[in-house]
Amino acid sequence: MNENEIKIKNEIIALQNKINEWDKHYYDLDNPIVSDEIYDIEYNKLKKYEEQYSYLFSDLELKKSPTNKINAHLSRIFSKVEHDYPMLSLNKTYTIEEIKKFVDNIKKITEKFSFFVEPKIDGLSISIKYKNGKLFKAVTRGNGQIGEDVTSNILQIKDIPKKIAYQKNLEVRGEVFLPINQFEELNKTLASENKPLMANPRNAAAGTLRQLNPEIVKQRNLSAFLYYIINPKKHNIFSMEDSFKFLKNLGFLVTKESKKLNSIEEIEAYITNFKELKKTLDYETDGIVIKLNEIEYYEKLGQTSKFPHWAVAFKYEPDITSTILRDIFITIGRTGVVTYNAKLDEVELSGTKVSFATLNNYEFINNLNINIGDAVYIKKSGEIIPCVIGLANKNNTEVFKPIEKCPYCNNQIYFNDTGLEQFCLNENCPEIKIRKLIHFTSKEALDINSLGEKNIILFHKLNYINEITDIFKLKNYQEELINLSGFGEISVKKIISSIEEAKNKSLEKLIFGLSIPLVGIKSAKFIASKVLKFENVLDFDFSVFEEYHDFGNKITANLIEWFSNEKNIKLIKELISLNVNPIYINEQKTDILNNLAFVITGTLSKPRSFFEKLIIENGGQVFSAVSSNIKYLLAGEKAGSKLVKAKKLNVQVISEKEFYELLNS
Ligand code: IVH
Repeated sequence: MNENEIKIKNEIIALQNKINEWDKHYYDLDNPIVSDEIYDIEYNKLKKYEEQYSYLFSDLELKKSPTNKINAHLSRIFSKVEHDYPMLSLNKTYTIEEIKKFVDNIKKITEKFSFFVEPKIDGLSISIKYKNGKLFKAVTRGNGQIGEDVTSNILQIKDIPKKIAYQKNLEVRGEVFLPINQFEELNKTLASENKPLMANPRNAAAGTLRQLNPEIVKQRNLSAFLYYIINPKKHNIFSMEDSFKFLKNLGFLVTKESKKLNSIEEIEAYITNFKELKKTLDYETDGIVIKLNEIEYYEKLGQTSKFPHWAVAFKYEPDITSTILRDIFITIGRTGVVTYNAKLDEVELSGTKVSFATLNNYEFINNLNINIGDAVYIKKSGEIIPCVIGLANKNNTEVFKPIEKCPYCNNQIYFNDTGLEQFCLNENCPEIKIRKLIHFTSKEALDINSLGEKNIILFHKLNYINEITDIFKLKNYQEELINLSGFGEISVKKIISSIEEAKNKSLEKLIFGLSIPLVGIKSAKFIASKVLKFENVLDFDFSVFEEYHDFGNKITANLIEWFSNEKNIKLIKELISLNVNPIYINEQKTDILNNLAFVITGTLSKPRSFFEKLIIENGGQVFSAVSSNIKYLLAGEKAGSKLVKAKKLNVQVISEKEFYELLNS
């Protein structure tokens, strides 16, 4: 080997090590540190180099490369089960030309064939066995040969039938995933409890499926699409299309978007169409899967150790770009938690100009090994603000150090005991105070929307509002407010009256608004249902919550501490003296609409809030976006895009009249 070859070999080994490290985080720790897109870029780079420079490596060295392993190592917690038939992966394509190659290979065997094309669900593969019509075993992919027995968790997924009307032994395979709306709910809850957020629905699903407590799995509402039957011929199934119908008839969830296609041209059209369609789905996809429809040729086509020759995945170019990281700065949340942010050279990403992105916490920056001056990859997913997802080019060899001083109060910043998050612990930090005030008036809390974030910052600066209780004393500054530029009698009256109204909001909203550590919306509701009236918190024995297993001892300990703190007691007493003393209102009166999901659109005979209230009172749920998880779209006149989307997704559209019929049924 000459000097140059040694250098190349070392670079390739470094790349192998990096991918091995990523695999470890993805498969062993269920906590990926790079996005799929970057993984694919680097993985393909490695594959290319290994091919080009294979003469620099021994066979054994190449065998050990991550490109030659079926990934996924196994954890020690769930018991291991060997698959009767290995669970393979899929070869990836990015262009029509590559798909044509796949088709040419089929043509070597047969002239007459069709395709079955499906969304590629971004979840976790699962194999489920039924005996005498009963689900008895569910196993994850693991390393493809040996998986983990997660039967007790799979039994919690309501979309997976536990009993089917089919007596023969049956093994079906599919993908467990977390619907996007459930993912958003979960992150909302985690955020309100000051817990670290899940990076994406796939991670959340992976974390959930590996929970040791099936109760948690139940609460998270995982779902699953099934797409494959083992030994189909034994069940008189000879095509993928028939497999789908068979699964559907037995009550399994199958993707509505899957269909039989006859030519490459049709596949091309499907690809174009699905690029838009996928944005409307309530589950994440990472491309499509193109399968030969006729199962009789599968055996002849064969497989490699990694993937079959009868199917191929197609992936879209990701909405991802790179730019230069110009600065890293932090913001502080209401609990004092530190968030790192990136100032970037402006770039266009999915049609918008981007110059800021989130970096989450210090651990995140450290894992990605990025620093100011480096080129970074950024990605935008949905409506969430863009996120830095990886290092594109290293320009700064120094390691970025954690920020040590709070930029708002100059106090020391500390790492918590897990070493993952940093906090400003200064009770009097002006930024924490402002964030708490903003939270108190936010929609989920007391919903004093006419006060608004901008006004809170202004009134805080003018010293009119320092503490929560000052909000209810703002009327003492009415004259001063009216004289402020940009304010007038009408706007000030509106602010004051919405503050007065807030006094009568429900108890759970007030409790949530107090920013008690770990107390999110759900816990606040529970606390309210036990405390019943705000003034009762003063001598309520919170230790009784220790009996409720779902509630968690940590929250209980926090509650006991928070409600016995002198300052907080003073705050509560002052709120009560200001007539802020709400009671618990149990909004649900019946369960006629138990857990049915609604979206409301168009012009109805009464305001939307009227219907929202009716739905909630009767046990239903109201969402703002149409997805396949929505049961009904209540549509009035001039319904627009939501109606179009509902029709596309086969969501049942009902009129006001039909809504009342449903209520009376
Ligand atoms: S068929 C031989 N169909 O993608 C494997 N897989 O990257 C046959 N996946 O291991 C799989 N959606 O976990 C198939 N509609 C779909 C899929 C799908 C997602 C997963 C599956 C597979 C992985 C390969």
